[in-house]
Amino acid sequence: MPGLFITLEGGDGVGKTTQSQLLVQWLEEAGHTVVVTREPGGTDLGLELREIVLHRRGEMDPRAEALIYAADRAHHIATLVKPALERGEIVVQDRYIDSSEAYQGAGRVLGSDEVRDLSLWAAQNLLPDVTVLLDLDPVDSRKRLDSARTRYDRLEAEKHDFHARVREAFLERAAQEPDRILVVDAARDRDEIATVIRERIHNHLPHPA
Ligand code: TYD
Repeated sequence: MPGLFITLEGGDGVGKTTQSQLLVQWLEEAGHTVVVTREPGGTDLGLELREIVLHRRGEMDPRAEALIYAADRAHHIATLVKPALERGEIVVQDRYIDSSEAYQGAGRVLGSDEVRDLSLWAAQNLLPDVTVLLDLDPVDSRKRLDSARTRYDRLEAEKHDFHARVREAFLERAAQEPDRILVVDAARDRDEIATVIRERIHNHLPHPA
């Protein structure tokens, strides 16, 4: 596809939103058309699914949770991301398949391979060109979240062990796909992180319109 698909990944509270904003600003200033989106919740249908999967009270079976993320993804990729890439645009997306593998596969212990296969099916096998993994010890990211949040969503509310498994799974995936996934130490200074990300993405950029 002619466009460029960039995803940002990592645990809760690692600073994805800040880095996404800095990246988008840099790309737009260079004249690129950028679509900024996220999972879950990048479409109207996705917003309803996001509310259910993050905030619904009461029990939710882990497989049901995995399928809701997959449903959000299927609709999002088909109706928003693929069309933008086909138009040659740059998509900057907060979370994607690697999040499902880490949170549902490892966090919920459903199995990374099973969850990955489900995600790939949902996403018509579309993988990002570049993925930035912001890596941080969950003890530190919890401190950041504590100072920023008044309430936690269903995933954030999970215990340390869960978030430790999520972190390990992200790092394992990054070790398996070093060409796609750039691991950045999220404890570093905000502007230093932004520079490292730009250096990696620079080589992939199409000529601005
Ligand atoms: P996010 O939008 O990053 O949270 P916030 O904007 O509140 O910081 O992600 C919402 C949560 O969903 C996050 O805890 C990770 C989780 N998640 C999964 O468990 N599986 C997935 O496939 C995705 C995309 C997200």
